[in-house]
Amino acid sequence: MSLRKIGETGLALSSIGLGCWQFSKNTGIAGSFWPELSNETTLNIINTSIKGNINWFDTAELYGWGKSEESLTQSLIKLNTNSTKHFIATKWWPLFRFSSSIRKTIKKRLNYLNGFPITLHQIHMPYGFSSIEKEMNVMADLVDEGLIKHIGVSNFNQKQMIRAYNALEKRGIHLTSNQMEYSILNRDIEKNGIMETAKKLNISIIAYSPLAQGIATGKFHDNPDLIKNMHTWRRKKLKRKGLSLTKSLPVINELKKIAKIHNSTTAQIALSWLIGFNKNTFAIPGASNENQCKDNADAMKIFLSNEELERLDYISRSI
Ligand SMILES: NC(=O)c1ccc[n+]([C@@H]2O[C@H](COP(=O)([O-])OP(=O)(O)OC[C@H]3O[C@@H](n4cnc5c(N)ncnc54)[C@H](OP(=O)(O)O)[C@@H]3O)[C@@H](O)[C@H]2O)c1
Repeated sequence: MSLRKIGETGLALSSIGLGCWQFSKNTGIAGSFWPELSNETTLNIINTSIKGNINWFDTAELYGWGKSEESLTQSLIKLNTNSTKHFIATKWWPLFRFSSSIRKTIKKRLNYLNGFPITLHQIHMPYGFSSIEKEMNVMADLVDEGLIKHIGVSNFNQKQMIRAYNALEKRGIHLTSNQMEYSILNRDIEKNGIMETAKKLNISIIAYSPLAQGIATGKFHDNPDLIKNMHTWRRKKLKRKGLSLTKSLPVINELKKIAKIHNSTTAQIALSWLIGFNKNTFAIPGASNENQCKDNADAMKIFLSNEELERLDYISRSI
């Protein structure tokens, strides 16, 4: 099993976790990004994750206003999982809210999570009405009260991440993670100081959209018609990114070449590169069916050589 310590928690999490945005049940604006998955499909995806040695799940308030948290934990209960072995990260949504809403919404989070503890609570975006320092203080209070175990942020730039880190240090708590968009096709965090600072401060990176929402699997390059049948909002986003299908082709071709050597898939090599290239990084691919989930979890069994890691690094940096 590919376990690594997250932040300074002492907690060993699988280098690949399961992204649970897909379980939003088509509820709310963010939730409407993905088509609704049935309870059966959700259960199968979670079961496959666990069989594939994934031991943690990333969800959020925003993912269907509780629907994702609820369907995740209902499935975990059906599967008789143990909350000391399987962990949950969720997020508070800050838009148009003050820091007091973190406390106001925590009971709801815990209710939707059906008794599963919040191992990692994250601030979803740095766009609340209150300062980062105020938000961190409320989060620290929740740790002190035993309502959450560890604290993370998401979409925080380098300066915002440092402010969160400093505010928590004053409370004797270490900032565990920053969840950022990061994949072999989007390496912005390596250029804007986030990765460097995270490594220096021992803050883990949780890479969201690690397959660039499917682009890094190569399936849209192989069959661009797939985009036509796609859900509206996602299709629009991909159309924008679709301009880069041509641009990203050299990376996809190299992923395919390496996949042949390892008898694996393009998606697996994209994920294996992400967690192999950075030892402080966790990837949280989402899945719309159990085959994708198995594919992604099995990426933890693939170990790329230094030469392969560097070749992919070079090619993806040059696009
Ligand atoms: N903090 C934030 O602001 C933020 C933002 C975005 C996401 N997230 C988190 O990160 C997680 C993952 O990000 P994401 O869902 O945006 O992108 P992603 O993981 O890069 O892409 C997921 C989608 O790619 C396709 N896919 C996945 N595995 C595949 C495989 N092996 N082969 C072929 N297709 C595959 C599936 O869609 P189709 O089958 O429909 O093609 C799946 O729904 C989310 O679930 C969420 O937990 C966080």
